[in-house]
Amino acid sequence: MKNISLAVSIGSLKLENPILVASGTFGYAKDVEGLNSENGAFSLSELGGILPKTITKLPRDGNPPPRTCETTAGLLNAIGLDNDGLEEFVRLKMPYLRSIGTKIIVSIAGRTAEEYAEMAAVLNDVEGVDALELNISCPNVAHGTDFGKNPTECERLVRGVRKACSLPFFTKLTPNVGDITVCAKAAEQGGSDAVSLINTVLGMAIDWKKCRPRLGNVMGGLSGPAVKPIALRMVYQTAKAVSIPIVGIGGIETVDDVMEFLVAGASAVEIGTANFYSPTCTQKILSALPSAVAHFNTTDIQDIIGRLHREMA
Ligand SMILES: Cc1cc2nc3c(=O)[nH]c(=O)nc-3n(C[C@H](O)[C@H](O)[C@H](O)COP(=O)(O)O)c2cc1C
Repeated sequence: MKNISLAVSIGSLKLENPILVASGTFGYAKDVEGLNSENGAFSLSELGGILPKTITKLPRDGNPPPRTCETTAGLLNAIGLDNDGLEEFVRLKMPYLRSIGTKIIVSIAGRTAEEYAEMAAVLNDVEGVDALELNISCPNVAHGTDFGKNPTECERLVRGVRKACSLPFFTKLTPNVGDITVCAKAAEQGGSDAVSLINTVLGMAIDWKKCRPRLGNVMGGLSGPAVKPIALRMVYQTAKAVSIPIVGIGGIETVDDVMEFLVAGASAVEIGTANFYSPTCTQKILSALPSAVAHFNTTDIQDIIGRLHREMA
C-alpha cells in the first residue's frame, strides 16, 4: 500500500517507522542477522530501530543457569545483565550496529544515578548512537529496579542523564509496582524524552518433583503473550498521566498487537520475546502495517496514536 506515512518522532529522534526490537531479545543485531528475514527479503535497516542488549559500565557475568524457562504463554528469564561492558561495546559492537542504517538506541544500566550519567556522557560522543534507553527496571539483578520503584530517585537519575548528554532518551519502567504512572511522571519531570514500558513481570516457576525453582536465580522476569494485557493496560494508564511519548513493550507479535498499543497511546513499540519464537514477525508486521493504518481512512500513522482515548472521551 502506497502513500502511508509510518514515520514517528520521539523527542528529537525521528523513526522511519514505529517498529523497534527490544533490548535483550536481539543480541547486538549481528547475532540475528538473516534470521529475521523470510526469503532474504528483509534487511535490518528496515526496522524503525534496534535496542541492543543492556550494557553496564563494567563487564558482568550474569546469573547462574538455568537462565530461562518456558511457561504457559510466556518466558521467564533471569539473565542478569550478562555483558562485556561499555568499553567493549563501543569497540566491538558499535562498528556493526552503526553500519546497519537504522536508529541505534543503546540500553544502559548503572549501579548508581551517577553511573548512568557517566555512561550517557560517554555514549553521547560515540558515532552512530542515536538515542539511549535507561534500563531502571531489570528485575534480575540486585537493586535493578530500585530507581524504577522510587519516583524521587527516578527523577534524580533522569535529571542527571539529561544534564550529561544531548541524546534523546527513553526511561524504561518496571511493571512490578502498584502504579506505574508515578514513575512515568517522575521520568517526565526529570526531562526524559519518552517512557518505555514494560520490562518483565517478576515471576517464578517450580519443578515440584525435584522441589526446587526452575531458574538458577529462583525468580525471573516473565515476558511474551502472557504479559500483553498488563502492558497494554499500563500504556493506556500512562498515556493519561504524561504528555511525553510512550514506547509500548510486552507480548507484541502481530500487526494487531501493534495497533492495540498505538491506539492505547504508544508512539512506537518494541518487539521482544516474539523475536525468539517468530523471528520473521517484524517483517510481517511492517508489511501489514500500512493497510492497518488505512483502516482509519488516514495516510499518517500519527493519527492512530492514542486514538482510543479520543474515541472514549
Ligand atoms: C531473554 C530476555 C532478556 C532480556 N534482557 C533485557 C535487557 O538486557 N534489558 C532490558 O531492558 N530488557 C530486557 N528484557 C526485557 C525485554 O526487553 C522486554 O521489556 C520484555 O521482555 C517484555 O517484552 P516482550 O513480552 O515482547 O518480550 C529481556 C527479555 C528477555 C525475554
